[in-house]
Amino acid sequence: MMHKFPTINFIGNKEKIAKWIVDYFPADAKTLLDAFSGGSSVSYQAKMKGLQVFSNDILKINYLLATSFIENNKEKLSYKDTEIIFAGTPKEGFMFNHYAEVFYFPKECKELDLYRENIELLSSPYKKAIAFAMLRRAMIRKMPYSRFNLSWQNIVDLRNETLSYQKYKRARAYHNQSFKSLFLESWHEYNETVFDNGQANKAYNQDIFELLPTIQADIIYLDPPYTGTMNNYFEFYGMIDEYIVGEKLQPFQNNFIEKKNSIELFDRLFSTLGNYKYWFLSYNNGAYPTKENLFELLAKYGTNVKIVEKPHIYKITGKENKNENIEYLFMAENPLFVSKQPTPQRLSFMNYHRQEVFEKKFAKS
Ligand SMILES: C[S@@+](CC[C@H](N)C(=O)[O-])C[C@H]1O[C@@H](n2cnc3c(N)ncnc32)[C@H](O)[C@@H]1O
Repeated sequence: MMHKFPTINFIGNKEKIAKWIVDYFPADAKTLLDAFSGGSSVSYQAKMKGLQVFSNDILKINYLLATSFIENNKEKLSYKDTEIIFAGTPKEGFMFNHYAEVFYFPKECKELDLYRENIELLSSPYKKAIAFAMLRRAMIRKMPYSRFNLSWQNIVDLRNETLSYQKYKRARAYHNQSFKSLFLESWHEYNETVFDNGQANKAYNQDIFELLPTIQADIIYLDPPYTGTMNNYFEFYGMIDEYIVGEKLQPFQNNFIEKKNSIELFDRLFSTLGNYKYWFLSYNNGAYPTKENLFELLAKYGTNVKIVEKPHIYKITGKENKNENIEYLFMAENPLFVSKQPTPQRLSFMNYHRQEVFEKKFAKS
């Protein structure tokens, strides 16, 4: 059965070209690390292909997206669960104290504070992750331009339906729909994305440089923020992370924003790919470093470097970015790759060893 990726509205997502990317993955590859997973569109396509998928993103909300429909193979959110989330009276909490009349009206902040508490009452981490994923979608839907870096006056104006219609010929009434109704609208769609591909998939929430040496996979897919483009992910979505953890956060480091250290960062990144056999990197023609720079850097550590290209239009704010972007997919191989994954022989030795340890322990007691 074909499963459909849900409506995530993630800036810089690869949804439209995810299949094109995954179709280049070599047939002998069984495991993938999607190292900058964002809205998880590439992870999802790879999960559909039957790979064991490890997804990672430094933002907690992106980790929760991956937890809810990449790692989670079967749990769904029942109607009873939605009743738990929306029960009770709105109350003053973190959102009211920090973001009333910054991003939402005070009444809306109090609603969010109540739902945040109620999500904790759900019976499993996967249900909680789905609930946050869906609430994220509702929060984004209410936010003009789908990102949290607008001034309050701008938000108020853009949420004024009469004004918006006069100016832009669109009322955008969905900005003023309640969180609850937007959440329930996507309930079916988000539940339907959950499926089991028979693999133990896993979501991680780490800085990429910390994660890379700790796991191994046949393929690593790198889709970092494109330096020099609209790419400040903490500014776009950090507020949702703050809502989840209930405290103010500092922007993360190694963010690929600055041109001045971008080459150095890519060099460091490519030099730490030893645990991965095949390397894939997405980039485009509007970003820095250039295609030639990246090719050279990849060839410093990898072999068989290739590039394929495809036109790609990013939908950023609801209107399409008319400038034509060319999306690059770089591919390279690791010349020094040695699999540390347990071979059947090693596995049986390990089981045997475990058995021995167990027997010794047992003998003592
Ligand atoms: C271009 S987006 C990925 C889009 C994704 N492929 C998709 O289809 O939705 C880049 C992602 O990298 C994440 N990121 C940025 N710096 C990171 C770091 N140092 N470690 C891990 N993730 C990072 C951002 O949070 C963002 O979600």
